[in-house]
Amino acid sequence: MQNDLELKIDELLSRMTLREKVGQLVQVSAPIDGAGKERLKNRVRNGSVGSVILAFSSTAGNDAQRDTEVEVYNELQRVAVEESRMGIPVIFGRDVIHGHRTVMPIPLASAGSFNPELVEECYTCVAKEAANDGVQWAFSPMVDVCHDPRWGRIIEGPGEDPYLASVMSRAIVKGFQGEDYSQKDRIAACVKHYLGYGASEGGRDYHRTELSDYSLYNLILPPFRAAVDAGVATVMSSFNDINGQPVTSSKKYLTDILRGYLGFNGFVVSDWAALANLRRQGVAETEAECAAMALRAGLDMDMVDDYYFNHLAALVNSGEVPEALVDNAVRNVLRVKLSKGLFENPYTRKGEYDRGQHLRKAYELAAESMVLLKNDNHILPLAKTAKIALAGPLKQERRALLGSWVLDGKEEETQHFYEALQNALGGCEGTVICNTDDLADDAAEKVFAQSDVIVLALGESHLVSGERHSLADIALTEHQVSLARRAHNTGKPVIGVVFCGRPLALQIAEPYLDAILCAWHCGSETAAVAADLLLGDLVPSGKTAITFLKTTGHIPLYYNATSGALANNGYYGQHPEDCYLDIPAQPMYPFGYGLSYTRFTCSPIHCEKTDMTWQELKAGACFRLSVTLCNTGAYDGKETVQLYIRDKVASVMRPIRELKAFQKVFLSAGDHCRIDFSVGYDQLGFYRENGEYVVEPGAFEIYIGDNCLTDNCLSIQINP
Ligand code: BGC
Repeated sequence: MQNDLELKIDELLSRMTLREKVGQLVQVSAPIDGAGKERLKNRVRNGSVGSVILAFSSTAGNDAQRDTEVEVYNELQRVAVEESRMGIPVIFGRDVIHGHRTVMPIPLASAGSFNPELVEECYTCVAKEAANDGVQWAFSPMVDVCHDPRWGRIIEGPGEDPYLASVMSRAIVKGFQGEDYSQKDRIAACVKHYLGYGASEGGRDYHRTELSDYSLYNLILPPFRAAVDAGVATVMSSFNDINGQPVTSSKKYLTDILRGYLGFNGFVVSDWAALANLRRQGVAETEAECAAMALRAGLDMDMVDDYYFNHLAALVNSGEVPEALVDNAVRNVLRVKLSKGLFENPYTRKGEYDRGQHLRKAYELAAESMVLLKNDNHILPLAKTAKIALAGPLKQERRALLGSWVLDGKEEETQHFYEALQNALGGCEGTVICNTDDLADDAAEKVFAQSDVIVLALGESHLVSGERHSLADIALTEHQVSLARRAHNTGKPVIGVVFCGRPLALQIAEPYLDAILCAWHCGSETAAVAADLLLGDLVPSGKTAITFLKTTGHIPLYYNATSGALANNGYYGQHPEDCYLDIPAQPMYPFGYGLSYTRFTCSPIHCEKTDMTWQELKAGACFRLSVTLCNTGAYDGKETVQLYIRDKVASVMRPIRELKAFQKVFLSAGDHCRIDFSVGYDQLGFYRENGEYVVEPGAFEIYIGDNCLTDNCLSIQINP
């Protein structure tokens, strides 16, 4: 089968002219008017276009984009298939980041669901909707592990942990592609941004990164490896440089590591007009140089800047670039087009899908993604008899709740929080009192006075996160803190519902809030889910996929750090000594943290055999560990039991904790269950600087509990 595919590629390639080959490596943006459509048809007709991106500006995540136009794409495809000499179909791609018409939670939130099966199901729905609108290829998943919440694009990624990121990366690729992405309703995925984009200095978008190979292999690369292992069709290279080497022109990253080391065999597309950036980045002078450098590095398709289109043929003809390199890139593109089944099914035939089912999935995922951060005196859930005062800048926001990077979700189909709370209380004695005229909440006290509990809809707009939307300060705004203070001064219980795209620094507001629900920007069902969680129709089970900091000055602070040289490194506040003189070292909320309305207890770790030889481990033996989880509270609910390791002595410093496994389980109130984990060779090692995976004998600690700071610990030993 694989051979047939390669034979077909050879056959096509043998009949193509150089101009047609280059055409396959060119991606252009979708036409916006009649004249543009005709121009594009001509280009497609003479074989100069391999792909069309269904976006119209470089920052599609923030600028309103046009709706998809299936008839236009089908007509372009007809020209490609019927009127171009080779008849090779184009492939249509779009930024389908966390939803299509139905918007799922931002990836930073859904990673915290710790529920990869549900994430996969949701992206299966997304693929179906996108495919129905003519999208054959999604520029997602974005798996940039990130330690800096100032970076606006942190919303698009899976947070700070490479293992969780890998699990989510696989789930999203599978959700888009299924087992075979030629199937109807499946689309090709594109893992991005390869590589190191999330490590940009200071959270400044597109900025430089300094990354050791050690961090690269252990922290940044794992989710890309997971995507490649899951069969991801394409990879998008990133804008940034790593240690002074722009990724766009780096053979080390695009060929040696991606293809040689990870075994990727799809195609690499550049990021938007990234070839042109090589001049700005100061490694090329001319457009032709940019094109030559990118192709030599292993970049197969040029997104929109037409440098390949304008220069590659001349570069080959002058002997500066061997034609074999062009052939190779074309092979990669054709491999994906053939695997997608575009030659058999080039057109989109619109059909029906069950929108209700997709919204239900969006609801389920949002329900498992929101995180209950604080719940003093069990103030939540609220009684349905409560008189609720609602205030705060996000109380009537629709668009913000969808989040950044939403091209096809409709604001008008999204409830705002005030509506949702009213709906959730429908038919009950409770009421919501809200001053809908006063967006600034200047007269909030009047509303507070009529209530017995205050709910504040806090957070941030989608416009302060996403691409090119970084912040220098991640604290909740002063205006919102002051609102929280005024609410608190009434003496009534105050609940903060925080709709956000990044882990906002809540230190100043936190003392004024009796309960805090981090509702994120959770997509189409955000408001309904937040209301149902507040009123106890849902029980929270989301966890933090990223550390919540107390202040911006904490950056970077993440759980899987190595130990400091002295005890006062302030790691997560495990050491009592201060790290900074002016702020406590502890994060606001650690990684993997989230409360429930019920209570779970976890037994000490049981393990029959706590030592084995390295040889036994290498041969496949595992440490079999188990805990008993009890739901001792009054609600049915889900808990994520997390397993972390610590390699106590190694040839290089290893993190104090590293997540290696987790299980999310449902338990009825009063129920208990045993949870088994196997820890073996694949969990206990790390990558050396040359990318070699090793497990070193010695002592390890295993931690199993409900967040990264659990002290439920057991020692195991690998003997040499
Ligand atoms: C972004 C990518 C996106 C591309 C196409 C770029 O500016 O970095 O993530 O896929 O535009 O819209």
